[in-house]
Amino acid sequence: MSHKESFEVTPWQVSGQVDYDKLIKQFGTQHLTEQLRERLMKDAGERNYILERGIYYSHRDLDILLDEFEKGEGFFLYTGRGPSGPMHIGHIVQFYFTSWLQKKFNANVYIQVTDDERFLQEKGLSLEDTARYSYENILDIIAAGFDSDKTFIFQNTEFMGRMYKLTLRIAQRVNFSVVRAVFGFTSETNIGFVFYPAVQIAPSMFEKKRCLIPSAIDQDPFWRIQRDIAESLGYKKTAAIHSKFLPALTGPAGKMSASLPETAIYLTDDAKTVRNKIWKNAFSGGRASIEEHRKYGGDPDIDVSYQWLYMFFEPDSAKINQIRNEYKEGKMLSGELKQILIDKVNSFLEQHRERKERAKDTIDLFKRNGKLASRMWEEEL
Ligand code: TYM
Repeated sequence: MSHKESFEVTPWQVSGQVDYDKLIKQFGTQHLTEQLRERLMKDAGERNYILERGIYYSHRDLDILLDEFEKGEGFFLYTGRGPSGPMHIGHIVQFYFTSWLQKKFNANVYIQVTDDERFLQEKGLSLEDTARYSYENILDIIAAGFDSDKTFIFQNTEFMGRMYKLTLRIAQRVNFSVVRAVFGFTSETNIGFVFYPAVQIAPSMFEKKRCLIPSAIDQDPFWRIQRDIAESLGYKKTAAIHSKFLPALTGPAGKMSASLPETAIYLTDDAKTVRNKIWKNAFSGGRASIEEHRKYGGDPDIDVSYQWLYMFFEPDSAKINQIRNEYKEGKMLSGELKQILIDKVNSFLEQHRERKERAKDTIDLFKRNGKLASRMWEEEL
């Protein structure tokens, strides 16, 4: 394999041009087939463009989860966020999709905010920093439309006391050799990380029902371990549905990175910043000159503006097809494509931020006082 073709995906690092089919083999997951996607939408009672377009492309036991659902057994949802800074567009896709699943399946949702993980990972972050980002990120998550009675959002440093026993039961069953092999830990890895996998696994056992975890594929290594031990603890193996990454603005290699501002658009970027970033950095599939572009057309499959519209920002399938065709035929120029994306991102962010502002009034319901949250703070896990 040449250096250019090599890639790496772990929960803490994504580099190179990701070969998604190869990852399915590496991780031992299954393709999310069209048939299974159709079945999920049928059971949901609504179509969903993110599913239709194959952004979620891999799964574990989604078919079994739907068998159970069709027999009348419920399931619950679990997802999370590591608060190391402002969230970007790629992160928020997971939460909009999870909130759609919650609405359609009337399911409880648990959202873990891993301030512990990020504190351990990034030497420059203090616990005060991660607390501040947790608050900001939780408002963004609420803005994705969760039900305050059926959603519990928690920071690990705050909730650990209540989930410690469950976490210990998990930790007792996972050997160092397993986490070393799965996550590539070395003798330089700090000891917090050795225990941390038990912490991220724990919420998948907050209920005895089967859990469904939506996330990008990078988080799957945790679920692999969960599935090896869940039944021995009296819980079900978790199901998971994995997405591809929204590519970095700067090009299809790697993913948006919170530490490289030019690669990502943050939910906090104002309209001017969005315009400048897309205008300057969005990797283009266009030709070198307008004449050539008109003659030969652009390549939407490598064009990041097109990819972002396809993956999230243009829900209307007739419109996205039209954009694709016009760009490919050279009728639409790269600048015009970028402008479409700029307008879409800015109108999305404007609405998102209005919802985020309103989330300040309901954050207590999600963290402490709503129906599910108050139960979680009372009950033994
Ligand atoms: P974090 O904060 O790195 O990422 C939050 C969620 O966003 C997904 N993601 C992306 N999705 C699409 N495009 C991208 N470019 C992109 N980058 C990241 C991640 O897969 C994740 O779903 N350890 C976790 C926090 C966590 C968690 C969980 C995540 C705890 N429990 C359960 C998912 C499910 C983390 O730091 O995520």
